[in-house]
Amino acid sequence: MNNDAIGVFDSGVGGLTAVMELNKLLPNENIIYFGDTARIPYGSRSRETVIKYAHEDIAFLRKHKIKMIIAACGTVSSVIGTNSLVDDMPFTGVLLPTAQAACSSTKNGKIGVIGTSATIRSGSFAKAIKTIRPNTSVYGNACPLFVHLVENGYTDRDNKVTKLVAEEYLAPIKAEGVDTLILGCTHYPLLEDIIADYMGDSVTLISSGKEAAKYAEICLMERNLLTDRTEKGTNKFYVSDSIELFEENARHFLRSEVVGDVFSSNE
Ligand code: DGL
Repeated sequence: MNNDAIGVFDSGVGGLTAVMELNKLLPNENIIYFGDTARIPYGSRSRETVIKYAHEDIAFLRKHKIKMIIAACGTVSSVIGTNSLVDDMPFTGVLLPTAQAACSSTKNGKIGVIGTSATIRSGSFAKAIKTIRPNTSVYGNACPLFVHLVENGYTDRDNKVTKLVAEEYLAPIKAEGVDTLILGCTHYPLLEDIIADYMGDSVTLISSGKEAAKYAEICLMERNLLTDRTEKGTNKFYVSDSIELFEENARHFLRSEVVGDVFSSNE
């Protein structure tokens, strides 16, 4: 048993998809979240810069009492591949849990992956999937505009601009006949309706944030690190840019108020 918090980080609000899932699965756990909102997007940066930022994000989380770290960012997870960024506590990115879920889901062995430019450039999802299920075909496409559309609230199912952009990005993947599509960026679940409408009912969407949260639960359980608290846990959010902007974005993102207190990481 361990009552310390679970540390979660992302470049912005995207990792909240993992937090929402953690709140559902492990309601008594405390969560410390760091969103590096001053430096988003990570997805258009070099490998070296992404790794440097990830180490800095972890150093910030370590100022708090934490028992596990989740890199709830598709970009960080892909750039580091299957490596851990810490050696003294459990760590997971979104890569392996998501690849495993996609391999279990696909029936025809054709999996699509969408993510930021850095994520697709790394080739990590294809590599992880082929290690788990060698005969799988993987079709990737970078969708750099999606993060900006999400951050600007262009997420309604009927949004013409987002629908057009989605068609442009998804057409080549749909043409390959995939039956499973990895949302390899934690921002993309907010576009799930538009993506699902375009891809059709026969395609299963896998949310990377959700899969990382499920994986974290198993990880803590296996190591006997779950809390024995019986009351509801708390969420604390730290951001490197404006608290107000984060709250506004998160409201769009979650389609509800942020449950928890938001602090500046600079104080
Ligand atoms: N949350 C990031 C990811 O999952 C996307 C935003 C960014 O580019 O930093 O890749």
